[in-house]
Amino acid sequence: MAEIGTDPGRAAGHLQSGQLVAIPTETVYGLAGNALDPVAVLRIFETKQRPSFDPLIVHLSSSAELDRYAAEVPPLARSLAAAFWPGPLTLVLPKKDIIPDLVSAGLPTAAFRVPAHPLTLKLLNALAFPLAAPSANPFGYISPTTAQHVVDQLGESLPFVLDGGACSIGLESTIVGFEKGRAVVYRLGGLSIERLRQIVPDLEVRIQGSSNPAAPGMLLSHYAPRKKMVLGELPALMAGYVGQKIAVLSFTNDYSAEAGVCAQEVLSASGDLDEAALRLFAAMRRLDNTTADIILGEKVPDTGLGRAINDRLQRAAFLEEETH
Ligand code: TXA
Ligand code: MG
Repeated sequence: MAEIGTDPGRAAGHLQSGQLVAIPTETVYGLAGNALDPVAVLRIFETKQRPSFDPLIVHLSSSAELDRYAAEVPPLARSLAAAFWPGPLTLVLPKKDIIPDLVSAGLPTAAFRVPAHPLTLKLLNALAFPLAAPSANPFGYISPTTAQHVVDQLGESLPFVLDGGACSIGLESTIVGFEKGRAVVYRLGGLSIERLRQIVPDLEVRIQGSSNPAAPGMLLSHYAPRKKMVLGELPALMAGYVGQKIAVLSFTNDYSAEAGVCAQEVLSASGDLDEAALRLFAAMRRLDNTTADIILGEKVPDTGLGRAINDRLQRAAFLEEETH
């Protein structure tokens, strides 16, 4: 069983010997290994049961490291890094050969980010290599936002989880690439489109909605609980499941007294989308671990982090909606 601890030195020891450790970031916990070591990277794919066509994000200690690993850094990328790193932004850039092809799933580009978590920055500064890290969950399941979430699912396959507390943002990073001099958002995430547009007014948003995506890994069904989840207008939706044990995931309203409701999570009673984001994945896990037959949820307003929340809800519920 994985040891849980707060000492970056212990995490560094495992990583230096080729092992994987889970690391805290402000977005979600990552399953980290030496990004320059193909054997460690292969172990990441195996541990997560992640398909090899889904590339990993390379975590750096600072933007000063970028030129060591990226072959080309457009001025727009530098402006975004200066504005938002450390933070929940990932930049896709042409990679240098020192980054193994396994990391980028054979693509000529790789994804880079500087995470904003003091323990992980300490760890990265102590290492002579960057860390490849996908979210620390089995492929397709809800991303972990606490050390315990990681232990619950990957505890048997890891020596160490670096415990940095609950993630402060709770959604994966926003991913931005560069095409013909334009910045393009490939994945909605913890940095809002509004904030990105303050630096890049003509930002393009191109979220993949197919299972054969240009931005790999953007599968329609992802971030999903084991239970079926259905989205809609909650009171009307609940009326369609009379006689079933219902778990409710709502934005602001309390439905716990309604007939059939055996579990309920309110994302933010005050309607704060940042609070809803940081509670989303933990709330989905708790509902998934109840005896409910089904999870019924609703979308949130489509502004700020609400867009990324709705993206995750849609992917978590998609298969159910598709088969109806
Ligand atoms: O917040 C985060 O980004 C977290 C923490 C741990 O940093 N990491 C994370 O990693 O969410 P993961 O593996 O769940 O998502 C990585 C995604 C891939 O699925 C893919 O969509 C995109 O990053 N990606 C990676 N390399 C890419 C590339 N060369 N071109 C386009 N997209 C890429
Ligand atoms: Mg993931």
